[in-house]
Amino acid sequence: MPSLFGGLMPKVVASAPGKVTLFGEHAIVYGYPAIVTSIDRRVYVTSEPRNDNTVKIMALDLRVPGIIVTYKDNEVVVGTDYGQSLSAVAYLNKAVEIVSEYLNVRKGVNLIVRSEMPVGAGLGTSASVSVATIVAYAKSMGYDLSPDEVASLGWRVEKEVQGIASPMDTSIATYGGILKIQATSTGKYVREKLNTETELPIVIGYVERTATTKEMVKMVKKLKERYPDLVDGIMKEIGTVTLEAEKALLKRDLEKVGELMNINHGLLDSLGVSNYRLNEIVYVARAAGALGSKLTGAGGGGAVIALAPNTQERVEVAMKLHSTMTLKTRVGVGGVAVKELEKAP
Ligand code: MEV
Repeated sequence: MPSLFGGLMPKVVASAPGKVTLFGEHAIVYGYPAIVTSIDRRVYVTSEPRNDNTVKIMALDLRVPGIIVTYKDNEVVVGTDYGQSLSAVAYLNKAVEIVSEYLNVRKGVNLIVRSEMPVGAGLGTSASVSVATIVAYAKSMGYDLSPDEVASLGWRVEKEVQGIASPMDTSIATYGGILKIQATSTGKYVREKLNTETELPIVIGYVERTATTKEMVKMVKKLKERYPDLVDGIMKEIGTVTLEAEKALLKRDLEKVGELMNINHGLLDSLGVSNYRLNEIVYVARAAGALGSKLTGAGGGGAVIALAPNTQERVEVAMKLHSTMTLKTRVGVGGVAVKELEKAP
């Protein structure tokens, strides 16, 4: 992985997609499979070389103006306009720290972040930010990392910032497409690309979150401690739904995929991760003609997905009535990509 550019550092832009979990969130934490797909909304990170050692982050679309991270000797100094550190910045900062340690290079850059998705909505923005930052920073230092290196560094960023994370979001931001992911008995995760070639017209509805992913994962863990057999059973059923859904996706049986989304939502609701507002969106989507709908991600607010072939417009109108924001999306798009904008003189 030698530096391609010697002293010349190029200005580059890397982009990584957001994601929705089609099946298996929460159960993946307990060793069951999940199916996740990329969406056609991306985070873009432009990396511009500087002549000093400062990493300056401009993240206007993340609603985080004026964050400046400075490396002084072995210390990282973070300053903001508002004297507060917002969570998206923690991922950016950690991504720069981890990739510069991995490559053993630390040079100053301006990182300009642009997002086509709302942050913290359960669409995997933190993973897209982490993965795009890793690739942009590495490339502008003259290094091309392999997808496996990017996915593994990205997962480290999420684990170090969140304390607990499966590699689901960082894998899909890296590889794109539709992936089945499952933990093995040794604690490692295996990924499998599902070549469904199925168009999945999805509508996403979003409402504000009342809890973070970390809090929701903890809440489920506590429920499991109180009702071990019951919650184990629910997790196992979610695993069965996911495997059935894999077969339905491969057979392109969208009616069945929709039906299984409904079952998956019911099981998530029984874990207590849905709420009144999410359920409202789930049910209006079905009433408007969606083949299936479910919450996606950790829950406690956040996003709902509805599978709506031929009814995307109508379903979106209905979901809009109950959502803070809606998006029509195409899924299964490509993973992280990087291009050079110009070489430094
Ligand atoms: C969050 O998007 C999905 C969870 O399963 C947590 C994780 O997989 O890290 C709830």
